[in-house]
Amino acid sequence: MQDERDTQDGLEDHSTKRVVIAIDGLSSCGKTTLAKDLAHHLQWLHIDSGAMYRALTWLMIQKGWTIEELLQHLEDVELELTRENGEALIRLNGQVVRDELRDPRVTEQVSAVSMIPEVRRFLVEKQRAAARNASVVMDGRDIGTVVFPDADIKFYLTADEDVRVRRRHRELLEKGYEIDEEEVRRQIRQRDHLDTTRAHSPLRKAEDAIVLDTSHLSRQEQLEEALNIIRRRLEKITSP
Ligand code: DC
Repeated sequence: MQDERDTQDGLEDHSTKRVVIAIDGLSSCGKTTLAKDLAHHLQWLHIDSGAMYRALTWLMIQKGWTIEELLQHLEDVELELTRENGEALIRLNGQVVRDELRDPRVTEQVSAVSMIPEVRRFLVEKQRAAARNASVVMDGRDIGTVVFPDADIKFYLTADEDVRVRRRHRELLEKGYEIDEEEVRRQIRQRDHLDTTRAHSPLRKAEDAIVLDTSHLSRQEQLEEALNIIRRRLEKITSP
């Protein structure tokens, strides 16, 4: 059902044109939360591309595979995006995977898996296919640069390291993982280093991306700020 606010701000009129919003940035800047909130508000599809890389990493850990073994099995892996009760979910070989994707063991290894070109090809194809017939908000590292270089609106999120460490630490404690803050900091630094320096599709700001620093913004403020930018951009895109 359409959110009442959408009919007031005119954003629902763009259903005739497929719109892609790309959100990229370092780990724990709030990309997925913002993408989810925007998609909910706009009634569009949210795709968390990081969760797709995490799903393959989870499978590798579950099966006890090395990265080479994961690559050997890649073509047989069924990874689908489905929408159930308004929520975008990942089905991995028929099973919904969600909370397990946040397991620190997955976080530790996901950057190594996501730097492999075959893995990226496999997932980028699925990310593009998911947006073929629907307006989407997709978050990740290379959405505005590689997956959708022509995205209608691109955001590049940043936040101070301390803020990112605190956010990720709180999120993990809430999910029941006992981990100390310094370990979270180490993981974030290591992941950011690997994600920005890898040879294939490293994280970088697209030239036309709008930078949004979320350090001092509440969740609601981030949503409002992004919606204001989207409204202005969409007016330009659709006005004759
Ligand atoms: O957003 P996240 O922390 O859930 O992403 C997990 C990892 O997946 C991240 O460290 C790098 C990788 N990733 C990627 O390489 N490209 C994307 N578009 C999204 C995530």
